[in-house]
Amino acid sequence: MSTQPVILILGAAGQVGTELQKSFAGAGDIKACDHSIADFSKPEDLRALIAHLHPALILNAAAYTAVDRAESEPDLAMAINGHAPRVLAEEAVKLNALLVHYSTDYVFDGTKKSPWVESDPTNPLNVYGRTKLAGEHAIQEVGGRHLIFRTSWVYGPLGNNFLRTMLRLGAERDQLKIVDDQFGAPTSSRAIAEATRAVFDKVSAMNSGYGLYHLTCGGETTWCGFAREIFSLKQQQGSSKVPEIIPIPSSGYPTPATRPANSVLSNQKVQSTFGVSLPDWQSALNAVVTG
Ligand SMILES: NC(=O)c1ccc[n+]([C@@H]2O[C@H](COP(=O)([O-])OP(=O)(O)OC[C@H]3O[C@@H](n4cnc5c(N)ncnc54)[C@H](OP(=O)(O)O)[C@@H]3O)[C@@H](O)[C@H]2O)c1
Repeated sequence: MSTQPVILILGAAGQVGTELQKSFAGAGDIKACDHSIADFSKPEDLRALIAHLHPALILNAAAYTAVDRAESEPDLAMAINGHAPRVLAEEAVKLNALLVHYSTDYVFDGTKKSPWVESDPTNPLNVYGRTKLAGEHAIQEVGGRHLIFRTSWVYGPLGNNFLRTMLRLGAERDQLKIVDDQFGAPTSSRAIAEATRAVFDKVSAMNSGYGLYHLTCGGETTWCGFAREIFSLKQQQGSSKVPEIIPIPSSGYPTPATRPANSVLSNQKVQSTFGVSLPDWQSALNAVVTG
């Protein structure tokens, strides 16, 4: 039997969960659980799993992330994003375990003209944002040792994300109309996982600094700027099939869920507390696109 501390990774098959398995390799006895083992739609069932595995660290990358579908499945989204995190926090307290949880830029309403800081007032515009905010509040109310990382515009080599959608559509079409009036920071799943490990190492050494942090790649762009950078990198790699990118306003691409106009997050707090900074979004994208 392993004497290493158990690290429980939940949502292990998702974008961030997959990368966490790599960045935490060697840090403990990793127990990676996907949806089939830990079903967040039944939050109470998570208690027995956690009691059985007895983790010292819980990394929760499971979430209901279908932003538009959440508008028509608010109860399911709330169970997964709002209620399950409370159960994780309560079980973590029983074991004196550290809970690491992820939240979103969509807790903000987008009206600020500069990057959002952790203490700014939240006001989510959609069901997904409201359920993620409920998860944050639940963990804070329980009050054990926790790190909540708000991140944004997550992409990587796996799953449903903007990068993969662009590569697929770009291969099929000559023109793509892309929203150019929402500002944010594309953040790779790899950058999130590596920064999570770096913060974990620091917080473990300091035994202080727990709480809420923004954790995104540096800089900012629009979805249209993100798309242009993706195809510019593909062109540099010798791809001959690159679509024309046509900027459009959000009103030209109606979606069930409203998105904030500006969801750029300031990373100042994580930088000043732990000395951890993520790469700028273009470098992180280059690392993913070039493999
Ligand atoms: N993706 C983004 O753009 C974005 C932006 C800001 C913040 N975040 C946050 O970042 C964190 C990681 O997100 P991600 O991008 O890695 O998302 P992801 O790729 O969609 O992964 C989420 C994982 O949660 C799992 N999941 C869904 N319903 C579940 C359930 N009922 N029980 C157990 N697991 C379930 C999914 O499994 P199945 O596929 O099998 O259902 C999936 O593996 C989340 O907290 C998310 O809210 C994401």
